[in-house]
Amino acid sequence: MVQENHLFAANLIFPLFIVDGDNQKVEVSSMPGIYRYSVDNLLREVESCMKLGLKAFDLFPAVEESLKDKYATESYRKGTLYLRAIEAVKKEFPEACVVTDVAMDPYSSDGHDGIVENGEILNDETLEVLGKMALAHAESGADIIAPSDMMDGRIGYLRETLDANGFSNVSLMSYTAKYASAYYGPFRDALGSAPKKGDKKSYQMNPANSREALIEAQLDAEEGADFLMVKPGLPYLDVIKLLHDNFDLPIAAYNVSGEYAMLKAAIANGWLSEQVILETLLSFKRAGATSILTYHAKEVLEKGWVK
Ligand code: PBG
Repeated sequence: MVQENHLFAANLIFPLFIVDGDNQKVEVSSMPGIYRYSVDNLLREVESCMKLGLKAFDLFPAVEESLKDKYATESYRKGTLYLRAIEAVKKEFPEACVVTDVAMDPYSSDGHDGIVENGEILNDETLEVLGKMALAHAESGADIIAPSDMMDGRIGYLRETLDANGFSNVSLMSYTAKYASAYYGPFRDALGSAPKKGDKKSYQMNPANSREALIEAQLDAEEGADFLMVKPGLPYLDVIKLLHDNFDLPIAAYNVSGEYAMLKAAIANGWLSEQVILETLLSFKRAGATSILTYHAKEVLEKGWVK
């Protein structure tokens, strides 16, 4: 009766890795229980999640090295793996909520989220690539587009591009406060998307800063974001709370790959009990997030911890 916060299936978004081919289901070595699926197996995975009441999915592609280039052209090519996956999920499960990731890194031969020239990121030139990518996702049936690139001005640019093409009902979940974090390691293993040179510190946020997140959030809100996301989650609960207290937009938290790997490793060793999973997810609700992207989404429903 007096419990202040509850976690529901509706709060959860399940990130899923996809790969080309048939009948593929390959475990990510640093993320036990998490797999890269070919589209046929992705549909079966989505089906079993939907039966558990999990309805929102965020797709991430593992792209063959030979398809990558400086301008990430594979990201919006007609018939590419990612677009086929969106279409297949929406066709078979129209009531599923498909969140798509807009960023160049899985398709970039430089492994960066922007176009690289002379060791620097070209912000405004990158927006054009992101615009083509977002439009291709919307045309394939995406419900929510989540730009994870951290280029300046991309929310306004994408909103205009989507509206001008008849997609004003497609939402934007902005990675508003995305930190230059070492917690993304297992994700980059899963996709083979680590930067070939340098780091992402010129566009992702400094882990020492929280007030800067207010500037990012203000810009995103003015440019038309529908959600503000904080990423990673657990080390940045203060930032989730800060954005929640200062903005009326829904707040999302990304419980990232390294946070997942950390708990799974400790549980596998018998150093922590499985209860830490629910405790962690509840902390995001307490801090003010309504939407939680987490690799634990399916297991907490399977175990009956969340309904
Ligand atoms: C890149 C992107 C990253 C994640 C989601 N989108 C990694 C990065 O910025 O290098 C990380 C997610 C995770 O670690 O679970 N656009």
